[in-house]
Order: sequence, then C-alpha cells, then structure tokens
Amino acid sequence: MRSNTIDVQPVNAAVGVEIAGLDLSEPLTPPALATVKSALAEHGVVFFRDQALTENQHIALARQFGDINVNRFFSHAEGYPEIALVVKEPHQTRNIGGGWHTDHSYDHVPALGSMLYAREIPPLGGDTLFASMYAAYDALSDGLKQTLEGLRGVHSSRHVFGVKRGDLEGRIGNYEAATQDATHPVVIVHPESGKKALYVNPGFTIGFDGWTADESRPLLEYLYKHAARPEFTYRFQWRAGSLAFWDNRSTWHYALNDYQGERRLLHRIMIEGCALG
Ligand code: SIN
Repeated sequence: MRSNTIDVQPVNAAVGVEIAGLDLSEPLTPPALATVKSALAEHGVVFFRDQALTENQHIALARQFGDINVNRFFSHAEGYPEIALVVKEPHQTRNIGGGWHTDHSYDHVPALGSMLYAREIPPLGGDTLFASMYAAYDALSDGLKQTLEGLRGVHSSRHVFGVKRGDLEGRIGNYEAATQDATHPVVIVHPESGKKALYVNPGFTIGFDGWTADESRPLLEYLYKHAARPEFTYRFQWRAGSLAFWDNRSTWHYALNDYQGERRLLHRIMIEGCALG
C-alpha cells in the first residue's frame, strides 16, 4: 500500500474513476480489492497513475481479479504468454484497437476486463477514448429499449483477426484461429452492478441473431452513433506508468492513432469473465 487512504475520484460524469493511494506492485488488501472491484463495476474503468510494475507483478495483480484469458491473436511479451503486446513502432502506420470496440465480445464467454499498463508513451497523442454502455442504454427511449430486450447480437472475430492486415502482421497473427462466432443479449444485466448495458460494438458485432446483415445494419448503425455520443465518453491521456483497467461488459474503447513516427508500447492482460445469458 502506498498510503492508508484510497482515494476514488470520478474523472467525468459518464465513465471512469481515478484511484490514488495504491501501489499495484504489492498484493491488494481485501478492502482495497473490494474498492477497486466495486469502482470497476459501477464506473466501467479505473485508472491508476505512476505505477512501476514488472511483468510478474502485472500478472499477479491481474490474478487478484480472476483467471487470465490468454489472447489467441496478439503477439506477447517474451516469456509471458499472458501479456499481449499493444505496440506501434515509429515506422508502422496502423495501430491496434483504432476504432470503437469492446475486447473479446466474439468469445462465448467474453472477458470481464482488460488491464492495460503503459510502458512507453509518445510525447503527444496516443490517448484512449472510453464510452459507457450503461449511459448509452439509459439514454435510449423506452420503446427502443423494449425492442432491444428480445434481441441477441452476433459477434465475430473473423473479419478482424481472420484476415492478414498489412503492417499489423507480426503484431497480430494466428489467423486460422479466428473461426468462432458468439451470440449475446443486446441488453445485458451486468453481473456485478445489476445495471443494464448495451452490448453491441462496431468492432465485432456483425448483426442480430435471425436477421440478415442488411436488416441489421441500420439499427446497428443507429446504436453505434448513439453510443459514441461525446457525453457518454472520456478521453484518457496516458503517461508511462499509467494503468487502465476497464470492464468489457459496460464500456467501449478506442485507441487514437495520432502519433505517427513515435513508439507506443503497452502491456495488456485479459481477465476471464462469465457467460452473459
Ligand atoms: C486495445 O484496444 O485493447 C488497446 C487500447 C489502447 O491501445 O489504448
């Protein structure tokens, strides 16, 4: 523990809190662990600053929140298959995660959350946007909420990880493993907070179960535009040593790609989740 006081401050009205007073390199006390879990469930993302974590400490931190889900497609830190590399070198033009999405929604049991730790951050740019799917759901009309209640979304990794994509090669691979589609309710009840959240995302949702792609597209596009409204979002500026831990059931995120010619390196660990219904 860095101090006896854990300070939890919302960073904006819709999504995210910053937590100060914890040294994440040490095991969290039961009350500290409970505080982080509850803030994550309620606010969707928890941010920490000025942490110094080895790979083993990052893994030990993640394990306090659940089992680790090893990503099938990302390259990993040498000797640590649990740690996916989110990297862009100065000569590379595409980044990883450069569009609104939620991680692993294409899995039958989607990951609870992603713990992203910043090792090298460009002097300017490379921020990440987060959006609250609680806020997006709450702001829908009662009529649309009712329509969505009965629907299931079809999520896929095929179109993202099943195709070779230019200079992502070397960072993303194992294309032949992108075979799985999964369906989940379009409106989920969050397993910890009990709140309702919109659970479709532009990265991986390809339609509504039982609807054609053409039938699905207009409603999905409406929901995507609605959910990305600025008042549901927050823009996080990284520094080396920052850690963001987000809940994939209640948020989207979007890594901005505005730092051409600079290096950005983060380490990501995924925590296993539960079936969403
Ligand atoms: C991701 O999409 O998991 C990466 C987000 C980021 O690099 O900020």
